[in-house]
Amino acid sequence: MDDNRIKEILQKEEFNKSELIELLNSDDAGKKLIFAKAAEIKEKYVGNKVYFRGLIEFSNICAKNCYYCGIRGGNKKLQRYYVTENEVLEAVKYAWENKYASLVIQAGERKSKKFVDSITNLLQKINAMTNNEMGITLSLGEQSEETFMKWHAAGARRYLLRIEASNRELYKKLHPNNKTHDFDTRLNALHLLRKCGYQVGTGVMIGLPFQTIEDLADDLLFFKEFDIDMAGMGPYIEHEDTPLYQYRDQLMSKKDRFDLSLKMVALLRIMMKDINIAATTAMQTLDKMGREKAIKVGSNIIMPNLTPVKYRESYLLYEDKPCIDEEASECKNCLEARIHISGAEIGYGEWGDSKHFKNRR
Ligand code: 5AD
Ligand code: SF4
Ligand code: FES
Repeated sequence: MDDNRIKEILQKEEFNKSELIELLNSDDAGKKLIFAKAAEIKEKYVGNKVYFRGLIEFSNICAKNCYYCGIRGGNKKLQRYYVTENEVLEAVKYAWENKYASLVIQAGERKSKKFVDSITNLLQKINAMTNNEMGITLSLGEQSEETFMKWHAAGARRYLLRIEASNRELYKKLHPNNKTHDFDTRLNALHLLRKCGYQVGTGVMIGLPFQTIEDLADDLLFFKEFDIDMAGMGPYIEHEDTPLYQYRDQLMSKKDRFDLSLKMVALLRIMMKDINIAATTAMQTLDKMGREKAIKVGSNIIMPNLTPVKYRESYLLYEDKPCIDEEASECKNCLEARIHISGAEIGYGEWGDSKHFKNRR
């Protein structure tokens, strides 16, 4: 397709589905135009800063069985763990002392009262330890409205729940067909999070088996329509001990999956100028400079891993996940260098909340 057509589309205020498909299908020259536009918008609306969210992979125990995920309940090869409260508080202390102004607590999905209470308790302890000055994000799956409210009251302010695929037919192909993996429940959970006052983050995997370019265009329109505050997207990466592994020969090449992921980040930045967009670890798995490249074309959030190293091997959602042996301080140094290479600055000591969330209020 010729560059003039891409230029013409990029000048529009809003993109419709067929324009998004054209953009997602653009060749290398078109891609450069998209990236340049996204970089310009990023600079203008969210600036040059990248914010740290220290990631604690709290537990790999999961009641679900998503077909893509390495820590699905059905994977019996894994040692299951949860990080002890003391270990979490150690990680929080590290984050606090190093001026990471925010944390993400992520785990497999569990709904038992014991689990819910352990998180509430942890939130209270983190807040007491840091004078309520730590921005806390949760990524703990679908929960009831009551639980979302409880955790919000205990100090959580942001929540990440990827829709994974906004096309319900595709969603069905990626999950078991039962009540614990219901598309409508997931969608409803996103609405509940909004209702409970959270900054809401969602996202999808890119390059999944059965996924089309059309699906990805719809995903972008879904984010816009839902009016999300934050996004986390990255390439789908196969994992040997999962049902989707059998389709590995049908996947796009890793390079193409990476390129498409980068385009998705750039296009979302153009469409939703002031949201927070993460440079995800999965981007780096497929390209050594993946996170730097994402920062250049739109990402402004990065999640240095704070999980105690002894647990990291057991939280492999996909193959070749980086940062398995690196201590928190090594990831910090590594990311500092990477962010500087991208020409960005780190917003130490700042929450870096979604501007979009603030602008909506
Ligand atoms: N490849 C890429 N991302 C994955 N996730 C889970 N499994 C994979 C995989 N095989 C993502 C999902 C989930 C997030 C925590 O990790 O999108 O929401
Ligand atoms: Fe569990 Fe999340 Fe993995 Fe699904 S993607 S199996 S909910 S950890
Ligand atoms: Fe962990 Fe680079 S971010 S080693």
